[in-house]
Amino acid sequence: MATINPYEVEGLIDYDRLIAEFGIKKLTPDLLERMKKKAGGIHHLLRRGIFFAHRDLKWALDEYDKGNKFFLYTGCGPSGPLHLGHLTTWVFTKWLQDTFDVELWFQFTDDEKFLFKNKTYDEIQKWTYENMLDAIAIGFDPKKTFFLHDTKHAGIMYPEAIKVAKKITFSTIKSAFGFTDSNNIGSIFYTSMQTVPAFLPNVLRNEKRPCLIPLGVDQDPHFRISRDVVEKLGHHKPAIIHGKMMCPLEGAQGKMASTDPDKAILTTDNPEMVKKKINKHAFSGGQVSIEEHRKLGGNPDIDVPYLWLQYFEEDDAKLKQIHDDYKSGKMLTGEIKQILIDKINAFLAEHQKRREAAKKRIDEFMYKP
Ligand code: TRP
Repeated sequence: MATINPYEVEGLIDYDRLIAEFGIKKLTPDLLERMKKKAGGIHHLLRRGIFFAHRDLKWALDEYDKGNKFFLYTGCGPSGPLHLGHLTTWVFTKWLQDTFDVELWFQFTDDEKFLFKNKTYDEIQKWTYENMLDAIAIGFDPKKTFFLHDTKHAGIMYPEAIKVAKKITFSTIKSAFGFTDSNNIGSIFYTSMQTVPAFLPNVLRNEKRPCLIPLGVDQDPHFRISRDVVEKLGHHKPAIIHGKMMCPLEGAQGKMASTDPDKAILTTDNPEMVKKKINKHAFSGGQVSIEEHRKLGGNPDIDVPYLWLQYFEEDDAKLKQIHDDYKSGKMLTGEIKQILIDKINAFLAEHQKRREAAKKRIDEFMYKP
């Protein structure tokens, strides 16, 4: 059985089972159609089922159609360099921002990472800055995007966080996250901080807009606990759209983690590093020899280069051709790896340019009360 919560993702995740276990809903064709209509096309991460589930999305879209625009909320736990999995959620979030022309509230949980990681406060501040550069590089609209830096915006967040905290018990947190009596007391409180941005914009402006949270599904447990609390405090429960976890280079199990740089492509990796990592570490669904491969073909279902191309090759026809050629044995492992290397390097070249330019732009994105 796979383990999946904000602090642990292990094993091969069965997403259908997760839907049942978490009590979330699969994205239905009519919901996809509504987003497609608005956007004039459907994002490849939705088409391919990488964003696959939701809570109350129909309600958020209904409100939007009535003229009550939702705001988006997502976040980043700054504990180290970011990898392609983080960027995936944000690329999709940008598409939502552009499609619906809405605000994005972006939380940087330096408190969380200080409490959970074996790093100093100053180290976490350094990573907060570095990670903000990556977020800006995604291309969010600075006029509609507001960064919340937990320890810096504590003055507006803390009064709301204690209201949330008062309605959640220690035993709820313990069982949701597998904590024990030896967890530090800050980590027990933390879920309340992650809940606040789901309604803070409405408190600040005395409004009652819906909130839509795009996230990796491992973050759902925080909101599973706190959605009811948010409602008890007089706000709408936030809607959520869930993404699957991008698998690590070494195989389709678990999720990518920056703590294991061999298994993840970092946003700052140069073209040589990308090439080396993929050639050396990407788990292959190919056969042991060229002869065998030509004869039997590869298995795209477990082949990490193919699985990752679903994120980076936007053209459905091209992706299908790669799938079929690889499966039939016409395309070799070295060839599919090279296609992925080129795709990722092209993506990162653009990202890194914008990331450099972001160094002068942090202030533009910071929320100012
Ligand atoms: N806890 C998340 C992490 O560790 C960061 C985060 C904060 C977040 N608020 C969020 C992620 C809302 C998704 C949605 O990365």
